[in-house]
Amino acid sequence: MLVPVLVQRFLPDAAAVGDEVRHGLASTPARVASKFFYDTLGSRLFDAITALDEYYLTRTEAAIFAAHGGAMAAACGSGRPLIDLGAGDCAKAASLFPLLRPAQYVAVDISVDFLRDALMALQQRHPALPMCALGQDFSVTLDLADAVMPGPRTVFYPGSSIGNFTPDEALAFLGRARAACAGGTLLIGVDGVKDRAVLEAAYDDPLGVTAAFNLNLLRHVNALIGSDFDPCAWQHVAFYDAPASRIEMHLASRTAQIVRWPGGERSFAAGERLHTEISCKYRPGDFEALLHDAGFRSVQRWTDARGWFHVFAARA
Ligand code: AVJ
Repeated sequence: MLVPVLVQRFLPDAAAVGDEVRHGLASTPARVASKFFYDTLGSRLFDAITALDEYYLTRTEAAIFAAHGGAMAAACGSGRPLIDLGAGDCAKAASLFPLLRPAQYVAVDISVDFLRDALMALQQRHPALPMCALGQDFSVTLDLADAVMPGPRTVFYPGSSIGNFTPDEALAFLGRARAACAGGTLLIGVDGVKDRAVLEAAYDDPLGVTAAFNLNLLRHVNALIGSDFDPCAWQHVAFYDAPASRIEMHLASRTAQIVRWPGGERSFAAGERLHTEISCKYRPGDFEALLHDAGFRSVQRWTDARGWFHVFAARA
C-alpha cells in the first residue's frame, strides 16, 4: 500500500493570525474573514448546515454530479492528477474517483492537519492511488510544483466556495486555478441567482444552525486573540443584496458594549454590525464570462432540474 505524502507549504504563525483578526476588528465596519468560521466546532456546524432542508446547495450539487458525472469525466479526461481545493474530508472528490480514474489525488487545504486523517483513511480504500496532502492557503497562492505529477490536471473546486470571493477576487483566483490546471480542466460548482426567499432561508434557517455557525466565529476569535466576545450579546443577520447578487452575513450587537482583548478593545453601538461573510450568486452567463476573462475556453455547464446550481468544466 502507498503512503500519502504530506507537504505543508506555509502556515501563518499565531502572531500573524492575531494581527489579521485585530486589524479586522479595528476597521469600520468591523469584520472577521469567513475563513475563521472553520475551527473544529465550526466545521461540524457547517456539516450540519449541509443536512438542513433549506440549505439546498450541497444536495443539489451532488444530484448534478450523479446525473452528469459521465459527461463531466469526459470533459476532464481520465488518468490525470486530481487537485481538490478545500478538500476537508475528501468525500466529494473520492465519490468521483470511479468516473475520473485519477492518476494521483492531491488534497489541498489550509493545514495538512485537517487532511491527515481523511487521507490516511482514503488511502486504505485506494491502496494503489498516489495521494498527497498539501497545506496551503490557496486563496493567496496556489503552488503545486513537485507535489503533483507532470502533465495536465483536473482542478476541482466544488460547493460554491468561490462565492466567498468578490467577483474581482474570484477572477484573480480563477487565474491561479488556470495556471494550476497546466493545460487540463477546471471543474467548479457555483450557486445561482434565485428567489430571495429561497436564498435567505438557506442562510437563516428556522433551527438556527446557521446562526450558531455565525456566532461560533466569536468563540474562535476569543481563542485566537484572547478577546471576551459574549455570543449572547450578538444576533445573526443574513440577507440577500440583489443588486450585488450576494448573501451577506453579519453579527449585530444587541446592546452598546465594549469588547476587550490583551492590548486593545473595540466599542460597538447597539445594532452595530460585524461583517462575517459574503456568498456571491451567479447567473450562468456571468460566470461563464468570468471564466473566459480568466483565460479558460470550451466552457461546459450542467445544472439541476430547477436550475438552482451550476457545475462548469472549463479548459485551461
Ligand atoms: C462553504 C462558502 C460554500 O457560502 O454557502 C454556509 C458557507 N455560510 N452557510 C456558503 C456558508 C453560511 C458556504 N460555503
